Amino acid sequence: MYRKAANVLLPILALAASFGPGLAIAETLNNSGSSGHCPTIAPGPVAIYDLDNILPSVVSQDVVAVDAIRNTLAQYPFAIDGKNYDRLDKVFTQNAVVNYSAPIGVLSGLPAIKTIADGLAMFNRTHHSYGTQYIKICSPSSAIAITYYTASHFLTPDLGPTFAPDTQALYAYGQYQDTLAKQNDGTWKVTYRNLVYQGPLIIDQNS
Ligand SMILES: *[C@@H]1O[C@H](CO)[C@@H](O)[C@H](O)[C@H]1NC(C)=O
Ligand SMILES: *[C@@H]1O[C@H](CO)[C@@H](O)[C@H](O)[C@H]1NC(C)=O
Ligand SMILES: *[C@@H]1O[C@H](CO)[C@@H](O)[C@H](O)[C@H]1NC(C)=O
Repeated sequence: MYRKAANVLLPILALAASFGPGLAIAETLNNSGSSGHCPTIAPGPVAIYDLDNILPSVVSQDVVAVDAIRNTLAQYPFAIDGKNYDRLDKVFTQNAVVNYSAPIGVLSGLPAIKTIADGLAMFNRTHHSYGTQYIKICSPSSAIAITYYTASHFLTPDLGPTFAPDTQALYAYGQYQDTLAKQNDGTWKVTYRNLVYQGPLIIDQNS
């Protein structure tokens, strides 16, 4: 049976679902269709209500760039789920900023982003899966992307007293709001990411 992860001891489980109203968009919107302009979504985050208000409909754009960005974003689960945290350098620029929301908060710079390893060390395995996705090329060297994710965190039965003995997994639901920049080597990388929760953290218990 699934239960909300209320009153569980580990700090990561204390993460509150934070899908409240987002911060104001940083600059005047420019929804000029396919001409390439995008709203600024960093530092954000953008309230989910506002996404369809501010994100322009895509008429036509550079699909080669879109495909490169989609593959860059795919390399985040590979690094996280593979516990190969050094490879986050394929996803983020050296001075990228990630707002993981409370209680992890804002991690500035790639070395800080890699410390997400500490918070995930308690989980034996993880599975980050993407769903709904929007990618908009804003200029030849800039883009934004919204990517829904489900993150499953699997526990071993013998991790100690901080989890109920019958707890098998922790599930998180949310979206990444990414700002990306094309690099000198032609790759696309995330310069700013907001992790926005879209539901409560849920633990799975056998009882
Ligand atoms: C929006 O984009 C159009 C087309 O490039 C440009 O002419 C206009 O100045 C822009 N408006 C704002 C407020 O940036
Ligand atoms: C980080 O994200 C949280 C949750 O979306 C938001 O409340 C907070 O204002 C953000 N912090 C910064 C510094 O942008
Ligand atoms: C997960 O748990 C199994 C069984 O205890 C262990 O063999 C394996 O090394 C663990 N994997 C990780 C990534 O911790």
